[in-house]
Amino acid sequence: MILVTGGAGYIGSHTCIELARAGHEFVVFDNFSNSAPAVLARMEQIIGRPVVWQQGDIRDPAALDKVFAVHPVSAVLHFAGLKAVTESISQPIDYFDNNVHGSIALMGAMARAGCKTLVFSSSATVYGPEQPMPVAEDAPCAVSNPYGRTKLVVEDLLNELGRSDPQWRIATLRYFNPTGAHPSALIGESPLGTPSNLMPLVCQVAAGIRPSLQIFGDDYPSHDGTGVRDFVHVMDLAEGHVAALDFLTKNQARIVVNLGTGHGTSVLEVIRTFERVSGQRVPYEIVPRRDADIGISFADVSLARELLGWVAKRDVDEMCRDAWRWQAANRG
Ligand code: NAD
Ligand code: WQD
Repeated sequence: MILVTGGAGYIGSHTCIELARAGHEFVVFDNFSNSAPAVLARMEQIIGRPVVWQQGDIRDPAALDKVFAVHPVSAVLHFAGLKAVTESISQPIDYFDNNVHGSIALMGAMARAGCKTLVFSSSATVYGPEQPMPVAEDAPCAVSNPYGRTKLVVEDLLNELGRSDPQWRIATLRYFNPTGAHPSALIGESPLGTPSNLMPLVCQVAAGIRPSLQIFGDDYPSHDGTGVRDFVHVMDLAEGHVAALDFLTKNQARIVVNLGTGHGTSVLEVIRTFERVSGQRVPYEIVPRRDADIGISFADVSLARELLGWVAKRDVDEMCRDAWRWQAANRG
């Protein structure tokens, strides 16, 4: 049985679908601070069987102990946490509490239950702005906001944990820019309030919810001047988690691995692709660069291929098509 913290959230819910497809049993543990139980019903529709879940907060040791007592948990996929960079600057305590304190509480409960296999959701944000691209896992880390700091602190903690007790099997996965949705359009990304990530904003402009998209800068050293990112389909990420789990089952190891496609796509290319596959117009205006934005970011994905046998299969067309299908079916 796999415990999935944050399993009702964007990446967690898609990963649960892939866990089910791969024949794993799982239990979702979520406080629904950024999701809703309705997602679980949608997941049930996709996988065709009930989803086991417990509402709870990873900062609550009693709730965690209960989940380990009730279910024979052999490994944990740890998605639960807060993820908005700008919000983390105004609410650093909440971010450290949820992401760092929460992860410590989880590791404590795992240790008490004798479960020492963990996959942790980290982020490419830990690399900071100055890296040559593609960026590999051994590049120096430099974070510039509290959210990124919480990820690095937990990464450090996991290193120390592994050093203190080699029985721990840990995969730290650094995601690049997750996007897209399940092709059924039953689950997808549901940002509360105003989204900050590119694809949800593109979807909302295409749906007429917003008049136009602001492109933050067209003077980056990319072929069209707009920012470049390694967008990776959320179902590819989901498969990456199952591959990491399989790796840890076979290897008593601690690994840090990038999950991306290895290809950069510019903001303008995303807009053009989205317009082509959705048939919708996405009006935009060029505005100045966003504070602290990186110009170009994409992953060196050799380690994921080598260790996990994982390669992202879906292209930007598919990401845009699935994101739009989700938007049109549910939120447009
Ligand atoms: P999400 O907000 O959609 O999902 C997180 C889930 O965790 C939500 O269902 C939320 O209710 C739950 N949660 C939050 N705090 C909790 C707590 N204290 N106890 C129990 N449940 C809690 O986010 P996501 O996009 O699915 O991200 C999942 C993980 O991946 C996060 O750790 C995030 O930092 C990381 N990550 C996300 C991205 C991205 O762009 N989406 C990129 C890199 C890394
Ligand atoms: C992508 C590109 C923007 C919005 C963030 C977090 C990171 C990770 C993923 C969690 C950039 C441009 C965007 C808009 C735009 N999350 N853009 N107009 O900044 O790479 O990463 O999400 O771990 O930590 O920092 O993603 O989607 O915000 O931006 O022009 O309205 O789109 O400048 O070039 P980012 P993003």
